[in-house]
Amino acid sequence: MRSEAMDEFVERVRSESDILSVVASYVPLKRKGNRYWGCCPFHQEKTPSFSVVPDQGFFYCFGCHAGGNVFKFLSLIENVSYFEAIKLQAEKLNISLPQQEKTGQELAKEQRIADLRKIQEMARDFFHSCLTRTRYGIPAKAYFASRDIREDTIAAFQLGFAPDAYEKLHDAFVRRGISESLLLESGLVLKKQSGSGVYDRFRNRVMIPIADERGHVVGFGGRVLDEGLPKYLNSPETVLFNKRRLLFGLDRAHQAIRQEGYAIVVEGYMDAISVYAAGVQNVVASLGTAFTLEQCRKLLRYAPEIYFCYDSDDAGQKATLRALGIVRETGAQVKVLIVPDGKDPDEFIRKHGAAAFQALTKTALPLAEYQIQYVLQHTDYSTLEGKSSALSQVLPVLKESVNAVELNAYVARLTRTLGIDEGIIQSEIRRYSGQPQNAVQTQRAPLRQAVRQVDNAVCRAGRIVIRQVWQDVGALAHLTAMVPLEQFPNRLQGMILRFFAERLQRSEAVQDALAINELGEEAAAELSRALVEDPGGQDLMTAYEDCVRVLRREYLKQLYDEHRLRADAMEREGQDTAALQELAESQRIQKEIKEMDDL
Ligand code: GTP
Ligand code: MN
Repeated sequence: MRSEAMDEFVERVRSESDILSVVASYVPLKRKGNRYWGCCPFHQEKTPSFSVVPDQGFFYCFGCHAGGNVFKFLSLIENVSYFEAIKLQAEKLNISLPQQEKTGQELAKEQRIADLRKIQEMARDFFHSCLTRTRYGIPAKAYFASRDIREDTIAAFQLGFAPDAYEKLHDAFVRRGISESLLLESGLVLKKQSGSGVYDRFRNRVMIPIADERGHVVGFGGRVLDEGLPKYLNSPETVLFNKRRLLFGLDRAHQAIRQEGYAIVVEGYMDAISVYAAGVQNVVASLGTAFTLEQCRKLLRYAPEIYFCYDSDDAGQKATLRALGIVRETGAQVKVLIVPDGKDPDEFIRKHGAAAFQALTKTALPLAEYQIQYVLQHTDYSTLEGKSSALSQVLPVLKESVNAVELNAYVARLTRTLGIDEGIIQSEIRRYSGQPQNAVQTQRAPLRQAVRQVDNAVCRAGRIVIRQVWQDVGALAHLTAMVPLEQFPNRLQGMILRFFAERLQRSEAVQDALAINELGEEAAAELSRALVEDPGGQDLMTAYEDCVRVLRREYLKQLYDEHRLRADAMEREGQDTAALQELAESQRIQKEIKEMDDL
């Protein structure tokens, strides 16, 4: 929903915002030259790697790579959307939002959502007072007491009770002017199957409100007080309530997750409540479904590490393995917390107390360790066949253990436990990783390091070039002539520069606060880094020219490889003329590289 008035509004808020004073109100900063340093509020650290450059209007953390302008900072630290951050800042600066014209349909939809929110909130209050203030709540109070759930926990989570009747909530809400259609849409009542009329969905259940990460109630989980079925009844999916995205407890947990540097994920609502009440506040629960990629991404916004603490039964262990599979592709660091006694974290805490659970969190197992333990516990390795099966199951885990010390420790342990010769295990690992039998790890290391260093120089050059273009878009034409943006050596940086080029083509400003957000999380952070990073002594213009050369050289190297590969392929296919042309082209490129190097 962009308009000229909106663009002007955003630009005005941005230009009147002082990133330094905004950040400094959250983070103590120390000045060094033209930049300010502090400990990053977005991950845990003792030495400052979080930097603000007021002249550029950007911040960047060299530790966790969070970065952006003043709005990005506010959206991260206040846990609101980018646009809401702009509105927050506008409010502080007393700048009023331009009047927008919304269509009747948009207005109606917004109203509907506001109504649905309101009604969920009313339901939470209704269930909570049924529990705490009416005689209907007496058995539910006894139920909570029997589970050691204290009154302060009931108040903190606004737990409640749905009376054992078909129309209590319905009647109370209709009396307060809520329409039947809204009640139906909220999922709080259901249509009768025969005849007309509706009835309350939740009856004779203790009620657990489920909120989104901002603390708006969006649905409920209701538990029976006895052994009845189903044990839990949840709100149906609505526009507000999406089980795949939500995490129970995140509204209360996110600050602690950020502080601790990790989130604990448990299976059940009651687990999350007990763990929280035990003083471990960085805990969330998935909503009775398998852990999803969306949930994982959501947690990674707060911390890079996730501990899974699922039920200790077989189903819980299987769910752990499934969750680990989901998380793998996101690059999250993962540990597994095993509950040694009791079915789940809640039972453990009831048996052993809060302090015991707090101590337990320190015993989380690294992913590889957990997987190896799991395989050893679930395979009968007394037979030769069993040994071989156990070994083949742990190979993928061993392959991923990057650290040689760690790997050796695992190999030694498997040697002992499985009673297999160490040499055999080593050669299986090599075979599995696709390395030649006699390749020695240490021979490969320097090569890999050299590649990484070149990458760093090229990436750094890319960032300096981006900074120059940001300050003077005129540089873009020259750069494009030297290094085609489509083949820019670094993917993210290419994205940023193409984005600049597109905006320039449409005569739009490159330095646009809203537009930066369209770049996507990763690229926007890279842009911030480019603007915040110290170009290292040289003045920017000289640095810029050197960097363009570095980038062109890298581009030519890639181009050379491409032509060589194509020449080889054509030769194999017998297309000699075409192969020769490719070869000639590759030689021309090689010559240019050599001339650059001789300069
Ligand atoms: P308590 O017996 O209250 O301690 O429950 P729990 O947290 O130990 O639950 P359990 O391990 O049985 O299940 C974990 C989660 O799965 C619950 O928190 C619910 O979200 C969900 N769940 C369990 N049973 C049901 C059910 O019958 N229906 C639905 N829809 N979800 C369920
Ligand atoms: Mn339980």
